[in-house]
Amino acid sequence: MSRTAYVNGAYVPTRDALVHINDRGFQFADGVYEGIGVRRGNMVDLEAHLDRLWRSLGELSITAPMDRGPLRVVLSEVIRRNLFSDAFLYIQITRGVASRDHAIPTVDIPASLIVTCKRLNFDGVKNRALAGVTGSTQPDIRWGRCDVKSTGLLPNILAKQAARKTGAFEAILFDSDGYITEGSSTNVWVVTEGGDLITRPTTDNILAGITRARVKTITEKLKISVKEAKISIEDAKKAQEIFLTSATSCATPIIVLDGQKIGDGTVGPVAKRLIDAYFQFTDA
Ligand code: PDD
Repeated sequence: MSRTAYVNGAYVPTRDALVHINDRGFQFADGVYEGIGVRRGNMVDLEAHLDRLWRSLGELSITAPMDRGPLRVVLSEVIRRNLFSDAFLYIQITRGVASRDHAIPTVDIPASLIVTCKRLNFDGVKNRALAGVTGSTQPDIRWGRCDVKSTGLLPNILAKQAARKTGAFEAILFDSDGYITEGSSTNVWVVTEGGDLITRPTTDNILAGITRARVKTITEKLKISVKEAKISIEDAKKAQEIFLTSATSCATPIIVLDGQKIGDGTVGPVAKRLIDAYFQFTDA
């Protein structure tokens, strides 16, 4: 069965889904996106993802092509038509189609909207989290507005690729002062040598991850205190635990960073509790 995508008003087989060559998303990455996990048919933290999508649009002065209500219907319909129970739902909104010019068109052009869906095995994600993954530190060469979930992801892609070349699963990005910013497509958490659970403040030029916010809520319920602070790569390598959060990795521990074991090189107790609690939340 072929997959179905939504493109500017129509549900179409994904293999036939096309966008215009003058779409500003295609030419300038002038657009934003969201990625939402679908677990057992339910969109995880849908409203928080829509809040962030509207914020990203607002920061770039792109007018949403439809309201949240109709968009919710489109998202549900894409999942339904693909018959997926566990999936990754992708929403992309670009400024629209206009003759190529860096300057933003002065006339109103309708924004483009696409929604695609692919199968994502969350049981596999959980098993990978319980086994742990490896990381490779890479310089963060991105722009100064990483709070906007822009489709301009070239630095993220290059960092991930550099990490993959070393055999690592994720790139852990560091700023010019040697402090961790985030992963190439994840937020980073550390249980320090002294036992504090910390994650970088979202005010500090990183993406405000929806999974990060969910895990924060879970820590409050579990009475695990969290500090928002920066941590250097050097200190992270001495940490008891490091883990990543994102819609597609939930809470996934890094057990080896740059070839060096983190803690004893196995999944630590804090991450284990959070993985369990996260899946209790998604599966409730
Ligand atoms: N990535 N930081 C970056 C740079 C990201 O791209 C992402 C998400 C996150 C985590 O955000 P969230 O918890 O809302 O997924 C942090 C998605 C999964 C992607 O690009 O596919």
